Amino acid sequence: MKATFDYSGAKVFVFGGTSGINLGVAECFAKAGATVAVASRSQEKVDAAVDLLSAFGPAFGFAVDVRDSQAVADALADFHRASGEIDVLISGAAGNFPATAVSMSPNGFKAVVDIDLMGTFHVLRAGYQYLRKPGASVINISAPQSSIAMAMQSHVCAAKAGVDMLTKSLAIEWGPAGVRVNAIVPGPIEGTEGMARLAPTEESAAAVRNSVPLRRYGAAEEIGAACMYLSSEAASYVSGAIFPVDGGWLAAGVPVSLGG
Ligand code: COA
Ligand code: NAP
Repeated sequence: MKATFDYSGAKVFVFGGTSGINLGVAECFAKAGATVAVASRSQEKVDAAVDLLSAFGPAFGFAVDVRDSQAVADALADFHRASGEIDVLISGAAGNFPATAVSMSPNGFKAVVDIDLMGTFHVLRAGYQYLRKPGASVINISAPQSSIAMAMQSHVCAAKAGVDMLTKSLAIEWGPAGVRVNAIVPGPIEGTEGMARLAPTEESAAAVRNSVPLRRYGAAEEIGAACMYLSSEAASYVSGAIFPVDGGWLAAGVPVSLGG
């Protein structure tokens, strides 16, 4: 059965939405009729994403580093001025590289925490005033590292665990205003920068694939479908959830070591 969603007229902002999973998510909403905005550091990537998304409807792009709270706030204000209240706000910008804790400089650890966790705080804090109330859906893109400890991933584990707790805390704070806040935990997704960094060889990719109960990598569209479900009426009583979309990977305990 094919899942279909109608987001005609909805306003959707995806931070980190210019490549990989998050661009796939933005594309799903654009194809479903939404006006979309994407933001990331590289103007070139922003322009390419807007080109692609404009084929489906109105699309906006902002060259923004999520570590810069003022730049994040300005982008959200611009999108709100141009399009109105935001129905779906997604925070997905992230950084990752495999390194042991002792081989990593304090600044290396900080870079990932600043992008993944502080960046998500900046996006949600500045975004709140522009959300449709009641009715808006906020989704943070987390990772299996938020609940499964992994060698060479101490920075990401710490940052994404924080993202999950931020998700739950804000679900409590924003629930009374009718704003739902959830996180999606993607499993290994095909063709992404994340998996290129964590499983760079065919051998390591095959080990990951075989460790997934469904025996395959997921597709960005499958994360997009989950975001569309979580933002729809079908999920009107779902808030504060940390939602795995991972072929059963977390259930299996992620029994491979990444980064090789
Ligand atoms: N191993 C160990 N340390 C590393 C590293 C690696 N592979 N890559 C970067 N670092 C360290 C740098 O040495 C630097 O620390 P230092 O100043 O003490 O030398 C620190 O991390 C910041 O590096 P820098 O390149 O200045 O950061 P940045 O802000 O430009 O980029 C990163 C952030 C490091 C996360 C970069 O990998 C990135 O931009 N990633 C985005 C894409 C991505 O990771 N996608 C997958 C998402 S799951
Ligand atoms: P990706 O293509 O590298 O996506 C990361 C996005 O964030 C890019 O658009 C990047 O664009 C942007 N970004 C990075 N640093 C930024 C910053 N400081 N400010 C603003 N934007 C920034 O990687 P991906 O693998 O698809 O990962 C996407 C999300 O899914 C991440 O949150 C990741 O943790 C999560 N995830 C991925 C997997 C996987 O299998 N790949 C699994 C679980 C979870 P710029 O370079 O232009 O800034």
